[in-house]
Amino acid sequence: MTKKNLTIGLFGFGCVGYGLHEVLQRTPTLKTSIKKICVKDKNKARQISAEHFTFDKNEILNDDEINVVVELIDDADAAFSIVSAALKKGKAVVTANKKMIAEHFNELLELQKTYQVPLLYEAACCASIPIIRNLEEYYDNDLLESIEGIVNGSTNYILTKTATEKISYADALLDAQQKGYAESNPTLDTGGFDAKYKLLILIAHAFGLVLHPNEIYNQGIDKLGELELNYAREKGFKIKLIAHAHKTNEGKIESYVLPKFISTDDKLFSVDDVFNGVKTKSCFSDSQFFVGKGAGAHPTASAVLSDISALSYDYKYEYKKLNQSVAELENDFSVKVFLRHKKEEQQFLQSKFSSVDESFLNHNSGYIIGNISLENLKQLSETPDLSIVLAN
Ligand code: HSE
Repeated sequence: MTKKNLTIGLFGFGCVGYGLHEVLQRTPTLKTSIKKICVKDKNKARQISAEHFTFDKNEILNDDEINVVVELIDDADAAFSIVSAALKKGKAVVTANKKMIAEHFNELLELQKTYQVPLLYEAACCASIPIIRNLEEYYDNDLLESIEGIVNGSTNYILTKTATEKISYADALLDAQQKGYAESNPTLDTGGFDAKYKLLILIAHAFGLVLHPNEIYNQGIDKLGELELNYAREKGFKIKLIAHAHKTNEGKIESYVLPKFISTDDKLFSVDDVFNGVKTKSCFSDSQFFVGKGAGAHPTASAVLSDISALSYDYKYEYKKLNQSVAELENDFSVKVFLRHKKEEQQFLQSKFSSVDESFLNHNSGYIIGNISLENLKQLSETPDLSIVLAN
């Protein structure tokens, strides 16, 4: 098959945009060139000369020579308007914007169908790990039972630094921002939202179920405190932010994003720093494990590069599972959690558990370990000074 020549219009020249520029320069075998780069800030100093840039999106969208739009900006609403305009003009699109994809999944599916153009987004999930294309192609026939992993690089970096190098949470977050791992609004990382957007995309490709972000329960790492960190240390666990989805015996999908105590026998135990790790379990291939850098300029650009290369062979997602599957979301399930709370709230909180394995109180706080329904967990989640860690 002959490779198509691709002329790229790039939106955004931040960490990943510049990374892509560098990566393309070092990949001469790919017959591509970036014709124009659209950026917002007119006064920002940039590493390449001014003639490459435009401040007018239409200079790219109305250029018939540009057949691929690569969207690498961080504003999800602006990204959706650019991506939908590009698809409507028949341009293939590569994006890394997981928030935009998660919030507009159905509209983006419709646009791809109506205008018969591909939209690829491998860089939106786990950066350098080729998970989406594997879910699409390799697990096409093998029946997937579960997918679980660390899908956010910044929070894994922060958890690693605070637990093993005794760096403060604030310093570790600043470090993750300076290294270009965190979102411009880091609450998306630390609150577990970024992980949820990625999980939503993974669920669509793994199980053929398109959810709205509000349908997936998420807790981040921003409420973790000394009591649970000490508990983890004493037991030899690490705390990792986990995105989880599995198919029940009835064929329904249970999913959530939660911090979890990880024991040494779990493959995710040794996934540290900015690395992501994804475990899949399926009927015939059994357990598999993917690992790789989950954020940063070059790891993310490598996935964008791979999508650009795939476009040169006319690759597109076929969404076979979406067309075959009738999967539904299951919200009626329980999880085993460690719940840290204020001392005076113990009795009330304990009444929300269906069973309690262990409880502890000190002078001002305490914890409960036990089973609780997702519904009760959701209701309690906004309680101040409360932290939840998955314990099973
Ligand atoms: N902020 C994201 C992360 C970037 O830390 O994983 C990569 O998607």
